[in-house]
Amino acid sequence: MPAKLVHISPQVSRDLHPQADLAFLPGIEKTAENFMQSNIQGMANQWLLDMPWKRPVAFMMLADLVQPDQPAKEILEIGGNLSYFTYELAKHHNYILVDKATHETEDNYHKVETQIKKTFVHNCDWADFTSKSHYDIVIANDIFPNVDQRLYEFVDRFLPQTQEMRLTLTYYEDTSFEVQRLASGEMLTMRPWGLRDIRHFMTHLAQTYPSMCKDIDQSQLVYHDYSGTLFSNRRNVIYLHIQK
Ligand SMILES: C[S@@+](CC[C@H](N)C(=O)[O-])C[C@H]1O[C@@H](n2cnc3c(N)ncnc32)[C@H](O)[C@@H]1O
Repeated sequence: MPAKLVHISPQVSRDLHPQADLAFLPGIEKTAENFMQSNIQGMANQWLLDMPWKRPVAFMMLADLVQPDQPAKEILEIGGNLSYFTYELAKHHNYILVDKATHETEDNYHKVETQIKKTFVHNCDWADFTSKSHYDIVIANDIFPNVDQRLYEFVDRFLPQTQEMRLTLTYYEDTSFEVQRLASGEMLTMRPWGLRDIRHFMTHLAQTYPSMCKDIDQSQLVYHDYSGTLFSNRRNVIYLHIQK
């Protein structure tokens, strides 16, 4: 099956906004209220409220999975953080969330587990997580390669274990970040992945997994500066859906 690739442009975002807001906004707002009353920190829910483009992207990735009549699936999410979707996915599916908890403390994740009455969170680096040999879907939204550059390692590990993978990939041009090495305190100037790196990765996918990743729509592999319109920084986002 060809992999589906969608460049998130202002038009794509605009087209999906009404459906996404109708489907999700009341639930996201209710979750924000619950978080406030229960003293739970969950950045991903706040981002869904504050960054409107996140809702159409979530719609593309998750709408079919949060329908009430969905058959339960084996779902592994990496870096999902905590949001309305945590509740929906954990209630409807055999859902495992692996998150290193870099934005909020682990007890926030435990409070959500207690509310849902299910144990499904592993607060660790995904590379240290002992996974099962089969999942129906592996999801990673807004973690690769902007937060974690080990995208090749991630895909090469999990693609053989899943029927389906749903990823957003974030990349930049003309951007660098000052970061600090924890071990030495040294300041580094790092360039995040750009379009050239994303194209190289897509070529790797097409060559390594030809049956799953053939006929990738190359026209989606573009960069435009949407800062101040769609995004608050120079990021670009593509949605990649791979199915066996
Ligand atoms: C930018 S946030 C994205 C959250 C959510 N998926 C969204 O789209 O709003 C990245 C998340 O990945 C988690 N994370 C970062 N590095 C990780 C790693 N190596 N293993 C597991 N989770 C990680 C962070 O704790 C954070 O919750």
